[in-house]
Amino acid sequence: MSGVGENIQRLRRAAGLTQAALGEEIGVTNTAVSNWEQGLAEPTLQNVLRLCEVLNTTADQLLGVPFGSVGSKAQVFVVSHADEGKFEGQGLRSFFEYRQLGVSEASNGEFGAHVIRAVPGEQLPGEWHSHDLSFQMVYVTKGWVEFEYEGQGAHMLRPGSCVMQPSGIRHRLIRNSDDLELVEITSPASFETTEEKAKA
Ligand SMILES: [Fe+2]
Repeated sequence: MSGVGENIQRLRRAAGLTQAALGEEIGVTNTAVSNWEQGLAEPTLQNVLRLCEVLNTTADQLLGVPFGSVGSKAQVFVVSHADEGKFEGQGLRSFFEYRQLGVSEASNGEFGAHVIRAVPGEQLPGEWHSHDLSFQMVYVTKGWVEFEYEGQGAHMLRPGSCVMQPSGIRHRLIRNSDDLELVEITSPASFETTEEKAKA
């Protein structure tokens, strides 16, 4: 694990900033930046947040916290094969079935990954809704699906299409092919879904 000072220096250089230029962005003197980098002083919490913004990094990376070391258990190896897994319905959506890829158990619920496929003949336009999570992306492997995202319009996704949905974005399913199949990856594995009113 490298020290905070070394990380600040490395990230500052990668950003092409002098100590004075970084200090100006943060609102401190170049001496303060120099002291941080030499380990003679530590940035305040507020300055850590500003450093993250300016250096386009996370607090974990800036502080040198190894991934998964805080508040989480070790991950375990998992392998999942299509011919061994089975698709199951999952409550809310009768038009989709899910094949879990074992990621949730292997990552102590920090991440979730599943294959979603359409249930033929069950094509219903979905309601507007949003999810509360840290990360969500989908990658279409088969068929097609049209989703509408608030402020982004409707998007027809086909094999190879990938969408990352920022947390809280309102969206809805418009239509999909009978043979639709897509991979969804989320963090955490379980999250809240909120039904939203239709866009005005
Ligand atoms: Fe959704």
